[in-house]
Amino acid sequence: MQKSPESEHLPTPPLLSVRDLRISFSGRECVHGISFDLARGETLGLVGESGSGKSATSLAMMRLLPPSAAVSGSITFSQPDCATEDLLHLPEETMRRHRCQSIAMIFQEPMTALNPVMKVGRQIAEALLAHAPHTSRHEVRERVLQAMREVALPDPERRIDDYPHQFSGGQRQRIVIAMALINKPRLLIADEPTTALDVTVQAQILALLKRLRAEHNLSMLFISHDLAVVSQVADHAAVMQHGTIVEQGSAAQIFTHPQHPYTRGLLASSPSMTTPRDRPLGKAGIRD
Ligand SMILES: Nc1ncnc2c1ncn2[C@@H]1O[C@H](COP(=O)(O)OP(=O)(O)O)[C@@H](O)[C@H]1O
Ligand SMILES: [Mg+2]
Repeated sequence: MQKSPESEHLPTPPLLSVRDLRISFSGRECVHGISFDLARGETLGLVGESGSGKSATSLAMMRLLPPSAAVSGSITFSQPDCATEDLLHLPEETMRRHRCQSIAMIFQEPMTALNPVMKVGRQIAEALLAHAPHTSRHEVRERVLQAMREVALPDPERRIDDYPHQFSGGQRQRIVIAMALINKPRLLIADEPTTALDVTVQAQILALLKRLRAEHNLSMLFISHDLAVVSQVADHAAVMQHGTIVEQGSAAQIFTHPQHPYTRGLLASSPSMTTPRDRPLGKAGIRD
């Protein structure tokens, strides 16, 4: 068979490649050697019930685990035109630069990422200035307004000097997303970003993340205990149980033909538009 011209190029490495990641707290191992890849521009859903090790995994990527945690394995990060790096072995200074520039993270509760006594415009500006300290006052204001518009916060010129408590939960998550994306990261780690929100707002935030992901060509690690939520955003999914990945593959495959009994249980217990209303939900023991 003749080779196509494309096949002569080396395949692009995944943006992120996790290999044999193990995490223990005070000698107790809670992530038991997991491996997965995240391709460029793709969203990987990491799903599993509460306590399965999803947050520990994401914090290991950001190198934000407490000193009591012992981590081994490798997390290679391959940006185009940059050397491939193992995040677990980078100097703290380089890691700090990654955190405000190439890898951003958002959490379940937006208030944990926001300072309650600082105006939201100032907080978004600080995220920008951490990466680009010499930006002029005028440009900072323009970039902050633009970031607020991008996440569809209403009336940015008027609201830029409001405090976090003057916004709704969904709007606060939008502010956090604006802060996370203002430095145009390549990777966004979203750990249960919609779990604290009611269903309508949850759908709006998911739609926003999908739009921003396409506009910014972002790769995203989307973490949730809720398989129905993951199925709305993920291209690929990895299912985690008790610190191991029991199944991974394309989202279509996992959500329509789950192979592992645990995944089947999660699917059965996850209400969706197609769940018959006259049957009881399955009992997968989801605790969140
Ligand atoms: N800082 C910590 N100190 C001790 N144990 C922790 C810490 N963080 C997480 N764990 C433990 O690690 C396991 C996985 O937790 P976590 O990653 O938060 O799960 P998930 O995000 O999937 O709900 C749990 O048993 C939890 O108690
Ligand atoms: Mg968690």
